[in-house]
Amino acid sequence: MARHKIAVFASGNGSNFEAIAQACADGRLDAEVVLLVCDKPGAHVCDRAARFGVDIFVARPKDFGSKEAFEAEAVKRLREHGVELVCLAGYMRILTDVMLTAFPNRIINIHPALLPAFKGAHGIRDAFEYGVKVYGVTVHYVNSELDGGRIIAQRAFEYYGRDIDELETKIHAVEHPLYVDAIRMVFDSMQAAR
Ligand code: GRF
Repeated sequence: MARHKIAVFASGNGSNFEAIAQACADGRLDAEVVLLVCDKPGAHVCDRAARFGVDIFVARPKDFGSKEAFEAEAVKRLREHGVELVCLAGYMRILTDVMLTAFPNRIINIHPALLPAFKGAHGIRDAFEYGVKVYGVTVHYVNSELDGGRIIAQRAFEYYGRDIDELETKIHAVEHPLYVDAIRMVFDSMQAAR
């Protein structure tokens, strides 16, 4: 059977993009990353995608006049590439109904905290400043509520240190294998529903 086709949306560094692309390349995922969508020209994730030979759609949404128009162009390209699953990985925008209705239950996101705690763009910092001792990562479906969709997978660990850089490194180390496992779970459930 044909390998599953994934698109990744990202705005910055792209370590999760790379973890997913690498898992596809070495066969841990029966999938292929066929498109990167990036809203920040010059973002490091674009260099990573080029290294993996992944097609890139990179543009500033404001150059399209609106976020909806940018997403409409993204949807067109996702369809041209036959994308089945969209993985948000550090994509720093809230999706509009254009994307949400085009890919219902086919968009997932990784969040660097144990949802429903510490939603939003600063999950690591907010949890650290609160002083929690159990940290973690969540992969969830994306709906119209910020970080509010159904949870697919979570992984937790204890941290008693006071070094936020060390904590961030630990969180990223948890994110990468968790995202790969969660994608596999989503494909398994898509398969089971057929
Ligand atoms: C990750 O911490 C992810 O959980 C959050 O954004 C960050 C992206 O990191 N949504 P990277 O660009 O994948 O390195």
